Amino acid sequence: MAVLEVSGLTKRYPGVTALDAVDLDVRPGEVHVLIGENGAGKSTMVRCLSGIERPDAGGMTLYGERYQPDSAADALQAGVRVVHQELALLPNLSVAENLFLHHLPHRAGVVDRSALNRMARDLLTEVGLDLSPRTPVERLGIAQMQLVEIAKALSGQCRLLIMDEPTATLTPKETGRLFEILRRLTATGVAVIYISHHLEEIFEIGDRVTVLRNGKHVTTQEVAGLTTAELVRFMVGRDLAHEYPPVRPRELGAELLRVTDLKITPAAPSLSLAVRAGEVVGVAGLVNSGRTEAMRAIFGADRSASGRVEVRGRPARLRHPRTAVRAGMSFLTEDRKAQGLVLDLSIAANMSLANLPAVSRFGLLNRAAEAASASALAEKLRVASRGVRQHVRALSGGNQQKVVLGRWLAADTDLLIVDEPTRGIDVGARYEIHQLLLDLADAGKGLLVVSSDLPELLGICDRIIVFSRGAIAGEVPRAEFDAERVLNLAYSGYLKGVAV
Ligand SMILES: Nc1ncnc2c1ncn2[C@@H]1O[C@H](COP(=O)(O)OP(=O)(O)OP(=O)(O)O)[C@@H](O)[C@H]1O
Ligand SMILES: [Mg+2]
Repeated sequence: MAVLEVSGLTKRYPGVTALDAVDLDVRPGEVHVLIGENGAGKSTMVRCLSGIERPDAGGMTLYGERYQPDSAADALQAGVRVVHQELALLPNLSVAENLFLHHLPHRAGVVDRSALNRMARDLLTEVGLDLSPRTPVERLGIAQMQLVEIAKALSGQCRLLIMDEPTATLTPKETGRLFEILRRLTATGVAVIYISHHLEEIFEIGDRVTVLRNGKHVTTQEVAGLTTAELVRFMVGRDLAHEYPPVRPRELGAELLRVTDLKITPAAPSLSLAVRAGEVVGVAGLVNSGRTEAMRAIFGADRSASGRVEVRGRPARLRHPRTAVRAGMSFLTEDRKAQGLVLDLSIAANMSLANLPAVSRFGLLNRAAEAASASALAEKLRVASRGVRQHVRALSGGNQQKVVLGRWLAADTDLLIVDEPTRGIDVGARYEIHQLLLDLADAGKGLLVVSSDLPELLGICDRIIVFSRGAIAGEVPRAEFDAERVLNLAYSGYLKGVAV
């Protein structure tokens, strides 16, 4: 008997049919992968299965019984556990409290703290998170939060586990550990619905795959025997000739940025790097290797950092992001939520919001010009919407990301720092984003591209700086690009056991 059977599931939003009579069946012990372009309807499906949205038509059964969850609690009760695309932890509570929010252990009427922390520690160990269960969630990095979400989904009885892009922020090692957990669960008969834009993961973990396009069911197939090219064709309805745009030889110009002896804390290793006009410099390293912290410090967002930053040869006292923007820098951070998408403003308004609210001039906005430039950019980035006047709130996760990216691409600064530019972006739009980044370099901008996606860095960069354990472990020029060499550097600091 199928674990889950979905038939004719339909969900309409004003102006768009997010799910159009979709059928799906999930068998015991299988990992059923759900793929599709940004806006295809994947998360809408998850929201219907988890009781957050009520479908307009169609029905579901769970182990043969009618399944019609009216709330997240209903779904939980039925043994359906969900890791949503948007992280939903409570920042003020501890990790342990978040993990067992719905079933805190009690003793004599009060929360049993020691039992709670013990249970939490076990779960954290299982997902490979080495931190105290008492840590407030607001102190965690984005990858750690994702692991806590995963641990939370594993914290109780589960018959169907649904994961919406769980690995978007994880390293290959963390992803490998997650897959081990999934294999252990499926071996006991638990069924898994797994959503990802990383097609290689489908082959590693998936048994069957269902493809959605524009809210419609395209196909369901056994993964064995499929090729990446076939999957892409099912998803985007056309062939993608190349995975990365051609990197043309570029004449490098003047030095745009020079960072000397940057230290995040007085005891941290000192970091030095430079970026020239027309150069795309990749920044590789494991999560928590110090990449993001270094970028934040360069951008002036970390007051306790010390060191020298020069922009176009002139010393810049970067004590605040505002001064960095004035000096000609912009920064797409990895935390897109904190980046300040204004959900109740239109796509056009969000894209044209000047770099930071602090430097924007709302009084002088030319609406027509704003809409025209936003339309062009939205088309290039393949933002799935009803037009640039649509509110950002109604966009799918990946399409919201495209809007944030579009804002920075439109910002027209000399130096652009982008942290994980294609996270959560579908294969079709990835290519366009890479092309846009290369176009900026062709136009003489300097780019620092932080990415955990090594093929992406190898695909578009002129040079890759590798971070390891807070220090710069080495640098590889394009002529010597080699995945293994970069990975060896990324791990080198940890193998030597050098103290940070
Ligand atoms: N609350 C909402 N109001 C209006 N439209 C919505 C709402 N939520 C989603 N949509 C629309 O429904 C469609 C499907 O969105 P959904 O979030 O399911 O896509 P997705 O496949 O998860 O994409 P992604 O890969 O970007 O996460 C999109 O066109 C989106 O704009
Ligand atoms: Mg989604």
